[in-house]
Amino acid sequence: MNSKGQYGDYQNEIYFDGLSGVLPTMPMTFPELEARAQAALPPSVLSYVAGGAGDESTQRANVSAFERYGLVPRMMVGATQRDLGVDLFGLKLPSPLFMAPVGVIGLCAQDGHGDLATARAAARSGVPMVASTLTVDPMEEVAAEFGDTPGFFQLYTPTDRALAESLVHRAEAAGFKGIVVTLDTWLTGWRPRDLATSNFPQLRGHALANYTSDPVFRARLAKAPEDDLQAAVVEWIRIFGNPLTWDDLAWLRSITELPIILKGICHPEDVHRAKDGGADAVYCSNHGGRQANGGLAAIDLLPDVVAAADGLPVLFDSGIRTGADVVKALALGATAVGVGRPYAYGLAIGGVDGIVHVLRSLLAEADLIMAVDGYPTPADLRAQGAIRRR
Ligand code: FNR
Repeated sequence: MNSKGQYGDYQNEIYFDGLSGVLPTMPMTFPELEARAQAALPPSVLSYVAGGAGDESTQRANVSAFERYGLVPRMMVGATQRDLGVDLFGLKLPSPLFMAPVGVIGLCAQDGHGDLATARAAARSGVPMVASTLTVDPMEEVAAEFGDTPGFFQLYTPTDRALAESLVHRAEAAGFKGIVVTLDTWLTGWRPRDLATSNFPQLRGHALANYTSDPVFRARLAKAPEDDLQAAVVEWIRIFGNPLTWDDLAWLRSITELPIILKGICHPEDVHRAKDGGADAVYCSNHGGRQANGGLAAIDLLPDVVAAADGLPVLFDSGIRTGADVVKALALGATAVGVGRPYAYGLAIGGVDGIVHVLRSLLAEADLIMAVDGYPTPADLRAQGAIRRR
């Protein structure tokens, strides 16, 4: 993948390989990707990744709502060179795509080190990883695999402020370029699939490396987590979720100079409060429908968030399955677009190569749509009239 924006060239590689009898081993559609991952993942991990809140209607709506939007083609634009690059906090990113934080992505890899694999895929593809607080390997080891691609750290803010500050300062020291503060998960939503099998990976001690490697967390324990993991899990339950209020934003703002991105912002008034409190970006997402069922599709909320943001960057995820979805989210005003479950599935079936294939496919399709429809840059897509509601 190069930085010139000709991501569509991926299809030439695939067609040319075919001339010498080499056919793709990776899926070319999301349904096939999902089906292959279902076969590859252990049932407990599959349930955690694929499942959502309630009867999962919000999760399904996140995906199906994209069908109600369509691009209006423009002709004779001569979009032979596309530039998908975006500027985010002064970082020049080669594309608008990023990997959304997925706790337990570590467990999606066949070797159990999926955070490292994701970071390696970021290095290879130029698509940034937002590393979750919930990783199998500590953030420092994850960041060491980023290569030249910038990475972001997602914070689940613990109730212990000293621990929160320690996590943020470790992220700074490890070279992360921004802190994504997730606001919608200070407790876990009602997830029938996981409830049916009493399945919650963290309670079994999974994906807690950022805690068990943290001096502030360790100081809270009577015994080292290596000697008494169960006690560490109990302590983790005690401190995990901080039900933040807007009054806490000043404190968050005071502990780091890194850009702060508030994740889970879907209401225009919350955008205003985020702006007033000094956030550098908002991140419109309903957590892929995993947290609260009964909500609207995230893409339907994006236009009002963008309008309220009034120039503040808006990140988006929830329901991105194809390159067409990426293009539509950009046309509706997203500055950068997050992919979630698809890269977890790519990892499950093909490791680093599997993730890179998923990312390259999304970018190739987006790039080719922009070429055919005559919108050579994300800014052109955002221009009025690029997209209509069906
Ligand atoms: C998530 N998501 C998430 N978000 C976050 O801020 N921190 C986290 O640790 C996690 N963990 C997590 C685990 C799994 C298994 C999934 C699928 C998702 C939410 C994620 O960042 C993103 O919002 C959703 O994945 C978007 O929905 P889709 O497009 O993947 O359906």
